[in-house]
This record gives sequence, C-alpha cells and structure tokens, in this order.
Amino acid sequence: MGLKSSSERYGTVIVAIHWLTALLMIGLFATGFRAANTIDPAAKVAILRAHIPIALAVITLTVLRIGWWAVDRKPDPIAGSPRWQEQTARAIHVLFYVVIIGMTASGIGLMALSGAAPMIFGGEGALPDLWNYPPRVPHGLGARLLLGLVALHASAALYHQFVRRDHLLRRMWFSR
Ligand code: HEM
Repeated sequence: MGLKSSSERYGTVIVAIHWLTALLMIGLFATGFRAANTIDPAAKVAILRAHIPIALAVITLTVLRIGWWAVDRKPDPIAGSPRWQEQTARAIHVLFYVVIIGMTASGIGLMALSGAAPMIFGGEGALPDLWNYPPRVPHGLGARLLLGLVALHASAALYHQFVRRDHLLRRMWFSR
C-alpha cells in the first residue's frame, strides 16, 4: 500500500488522516456538548481548554487533506453503485469540508468577539456568557448539521459493508 491512492483503494496518507480526524471529531463532539451543558465556569473552562486544541488539530488535518488531493487521485467509484448514491456521497464529502471550516471560523469568531481566550488559557478575568455573541448560534447549528452528516456518512459505509457486502471499508484501511 503506497502513500498515494490507487484506482481500487485509498493510500496511507488519506487513510491516516481519515481515521485520526474521526477519532478527534468524537473528542470534539464530547467536549463541545459537555462545555455547552456545563454551568460551572471553572469546569466549562477546563473542558474548552481541551476542545479548542482538538478543533485546531481537526482543521489542520482538513487543510492537509484538501492539499493532499492536489497531488493524489480518488479511487474509482464502487462498481454497480447507482449514480445518485455516488453524487450524494460526493456532496456529503464536500459538505464535511464546508461545515468543518464554518465551525472553525465561528469558534474563532466567538473567541475573538468575546475575548474569552485569555481567560480560558491564561485564567485572566471571568468567562463571559458566550450566548451574547452572534457566532455562538451558527456554532451550535453547525454542530448538529455535522452530527447529521457523520450519521449519514457512517450509515452509508455500514450499508456497503454489511448489506451490499462490497468490502467498502477495506479500501479505507491500512494494508500491506
Ligand atoms: C471542527 C471544528 C469544531 C467542532 C466540530 C466543534 C464542536 C462543538 C460542539 C458540538 C459544541 C456544542 C454546541 C452546542 O451544544 O450548541 C461546541 C461548543 C463550543 N465550541 Fe466548538 N467546535 C469546533 C471548533 C471550535 C473552535 C475552533 C473553537 C474556538 C477557537 C470552538 C469553541 C467552542 C466554544 C467556546 C464552545 C462552548 C460554547 C458554550 O459553552 O456555550 N469550537 N463546539
């Protein structure tokens, strides 16, 4: 298995980025929803101190992934898949990029407008009510949209793997 993808399977670089991003996204949803549901400011700050670096790792991996596709080529579509399924899958992949970039922008906007970053990372002053700042609304809506995309993406992969039994997951995993 090479660094680059072949017509049949994804290459090591994309496979590593894909599963690392998936793991980090679990951490992002867990810390994000936890922070949003935590009233105690000290506990919320502690959770956000993990949430923000994980988010920055996810956006770095996403930019690397977009850059990598400039030098690599996607494998061929799965044989026998209807056109609408291929087009839906492609649309979901593009939406992932758009929503992840939007979540990062709204998160950074929230920090910039609220001035909460020095408090979160330096312990200076009190944590403001983040709902007073406009980027909080798209950040919450984007989180739910992203969860929906993850659910569709994972269901489609499981449908291929266990209903169509076309071993789709194998091409997004490491091999010798
Ligand atoms: C891919 C990127 C990101 C994802 C998937 C994500 C996910 C989430 C989720 C699921 C929530 C809970 C939302 C709710 O319940 O309404 C949340 C809250 C939050 N996120 Fe993010 N986030 C991302 C990027 C960022 C970035 C880059 C920052 C800051 C620089 C940030 C700062 C925050 C803050 C401050 C909250 C808590 C708001 C509150 O307690 O009311 N996020 N995030």
